[in-house]
Amino acid sequence: MVNQNLKLIFLGPPGSGKGTQGNRIAKELKLDFISMGDILRKEIKERSKLGKEVSNYVESGKLVPDKLILELIEKQVDRAKSSDYKGFILDGFPRTLEQANGLKNITEIDKVIYLKCNIETIVKRLSARRTCPKCARVYNLVTNLPRKDELCDDCGVKLEHRVDDCESVIRKRMEIYETSTSPLLGFYASQLNVIDADLGIEAVYRKAKEAIV
Ligand code: AP5
Repeated sequence: MVNQNLKLIFLGPPGSGKGTQGNRIAKELKLDFISMGDILRKEIKERSKLGKEVSNYVESGKLVPDKLILELIEKQVDRAKSSDYKGFILDGFPRTLEQANGLKNITEIDKVIYLKCNIETIVKRLSARRTCPKCARVYNLVTNLPRKDELCDDCGVKLEHRVDDCESVIRKRMEIYETSTSPLLGFYASQLNVIDADLGIEAVYRKAKEAIV
């Protein structure tokens, strides 16, 4: 039986599967899926004022300043709490202790799902990742192929390779994860559910789901 108003964080290094698993589980449990990376990439694509402000950070793998991110997340959580609210999954947020402390003033959190994954797996996965530019669905040319060529199964749109998925930027993102984000494992120690994310997609999905429901 699923709690009502379930508030979850998916935490883990780049490429650990936060988007893949978070999206699927959110759909199943009818939770809002709030992906900070998707929100920022949409703004960049639309060339909005915010998009122009954040594009250098995102494309070079650096973190966008905390103040800006906290303003964005507050709006998203407020939106998720209105209307058909059944809870939410936060993907890619928080990423610093300052963001985690800021989040405490916005909402409480029930569980943190930590997708633990090693660096070799990450580099391999991200080099082969492809994303739908229309619906943001994530594929992999080795482990999670689309049905036809490099087209999205849902939209039929040509899949794209993210600009921050080249090896040098992946390593930069890993470095930043180690210094700025991994301290959150201590911050959320009492709520942490550790999942071995080196396993295949279905096995990770089953373990994450067990930890949540
Ligand atoms: P964001 O988009 O959040 O990037 P990330 O955290 O680096 O995570 P990824 O999206 O790369 O990986 P994922 O864990 O979602 O893996 P996925 O499911 O796609 O952020 C991008 C940028 O935005 C940041 O660098 C920063 O600049 C900025 N930003 C975002 N949030 C911010 C914040 N809070 N503060 C400041 N700046 C922020 O899977 C990866 C691939 O592997 C896919 O191809 C998938 O099909 C495959 N795969 C997944 N799981 C498995 C499995 N178990 N087995 C085999 N293959 C798998």
